[in-house]
Amino acid sequence: MNTKPVLILGIESSCDETAAAVLCDTNILANVIAGQEVHKNFGGVVPELASRAHQQNIIPVVDEALKKAGVKKEDINAVAFTQGPGLLGSLLVGGSFAKAFALALNIPLIPVNHMQAHVLAHFIKPAGSKEYAVGSKQPNTEHQIPTFPFLCLTVSGGHTQIVLVKDYLEMEVIGQTTDDAAGEAFDKAAKIMGLPYPGGPLIDKYAKGGNPLRFKFPVAKVPGYDFSFSGLKTSFMYFIRDNGSDNNSISPEDFIAKNLNDICASLQHTIVQTLVVKLKTAAKELGIREVAIAGGVSANSGLRNALLEMQAAEGYKVFIPPFEYCTDNAAMIAITGHYKYLQGQTTGQETASKARLYF
Ligand code: KG4
Ligand code: ZN
Repeated sequence: MNTKPVLILGIESSCDETAAAVLCDTNILANVIAGQEVHKNFGGVVPELASRAHQQNIIPVVDEALKKAGVKKEDINAVAFTQGPGLLGSLLVGGSFAKAFALALNIPLIPVNHMQAHVLAHFIKPAGSKEYAVGSKQPNTEHQIPTFPFLCLTVSGGHTQIVLVKDYLEMEVIGQTTDDAAGEAFDKAAKIMGLPYPGGPLIDKYAKGGNPLRFKFPVAKVPGYDFSFSGLKTSFMYFIRDNGSDNNSISPEDFIAKNLNDICASLQHTIVQTLVVKLKTAAKELGIREVAIAGGVSANSGLRNALLEMQAAEGYKVFIPPFEYCTDNAAMIAITGHYKYLQGQTTGQETASKARLYF
């Protein structure tokens, strides 16, 4: 058996983060992310601007990741990249870079599904590069990983899924949103309140000082383990327009300014409860006791607390990723690349980026 450590370079460029990471087996050596400020005042990601920013960022980001990891590009065993889903122009930048890198170094190229990668972020050993010298097999006793099968609630700006994770590369989506994603619900509500993009982290921040039960928002009744958030967005829009009360004596702007914390706390409570109720139902019906969260919205403090509550009150074993592996990053692409490499799941130069990609 080959016991030599495997060094994987991961590349992520599906949306508005240009990211590169280096993994030695499952140990993180470097995780570099360049965000894109350019979208802030547009209320969402502008695809054309995102592609241009990726083009500018990709080489410096990879350079920095290799430097931080303390490895030369010739040491890398394989390059993994986000094949999809995502914005096609953005995906093409990372995909083309990865192809060129693989070709120049004559190493395998590994296509990765971004949503599968969010789930596998739980298997990254979050130690610093100093602790894990290249080739070190020293186990990290602090790092708890889920056991198969487990359920993962993957919540991001583009997706909301309950995934039955049977093995590293064997996953089944058992529930998903029929319209807007949970992150989109946060971002669109924030936009309605005049907050900059991405609004999710800001709503989280203001919610900390607010009363989650002050305002009531409707929760769509959707069969099975599916979700729907578009109705919430519409009712939130009317709620703000009508100042949330029968009393129209103040403007929506003043109403928001006076009640920002309570509005954010109540909205966040509604979204988190909607997600957690379905996750618990799925866990109960399938008899699964280990549950995880992943994706950008798993950085939300309300959702993280709700999971901890599931553990404390109902005995579930819960897994919450460190913040740096919640939102888009390349470490999750590299860890998925690691497991695919071990199974020989590589591809040739003919591979294509895909805006829509399922597993
Ligand atoms: O996974 P991600 O970085 O990118 C996608 O694949 O979409 O997720 C981004 C989403 C955005 O909608 C952002 O507002 C949301 O995650 N998000 C949050 C928080 N941090 C990021 N939503 C609520 N609370 C947060 N703390
Ligand atoms: Zn993502």
